[in-house]
Amino acid sequence: MAKRMVIHGPNINLLGSREPTIYGNATLDEINQTTQQWARRSGVTVELVQSNHEGEIVDCIGRAKNVFDAIVINPAAYTHTSVAIRDAISAVGIPAIEVHLSNIYSREEFRHHSLIAPVAYGQVCGFGSFSYILGLEAVKKVILKQS
Ligand code: DQA
Repeated sequence: MAKRMVIHGPNINLLGSREPTIYGNATLDEINQTTQQWARRSGVTVELVQSNHEGEIVDCIGRAKNVFDAIVINPAAYTHTSVAIRDAISAVGIPAIEVHLSNIYSREEFRHHSLIAPVAYGQVCGFGSFSYILGLEAVKKVILKQS
């Protein structure tokens, strides 16, 4: 099963016009297209989801069990607040990579703490939209050890 779920959290649908000096100019559609190009080249299936709702993200993670072999998630603002998303990741036991476009450690102090990081396999942040590709590459090469 070479199937990965990519989850974009709240306000990621606004990329392109949302604080471009922090998040860049790429829209969510463009990021998703680049992700699907990577997936085709890499011979894996990627399902892409965006939600502004915590419960929907929890449901998505819950559905991933036995269907996806890894989750790449940008929990966005829920990174800093959501026990529910953290618990969902622990509950399904699928490796999850936490990704962020911006370097959360060089920003406001409230962004320095991630509730997700302790249950994530690893974290990628600060590389703009390329953070997603780095996360997917890490899943492939480091976690699943595929060439
Ligand atoms: C973000 C960083 C979060 O702190 C913020 O709330 C976001 C986006 C990022 O990708 O850089 O919405 O996850």
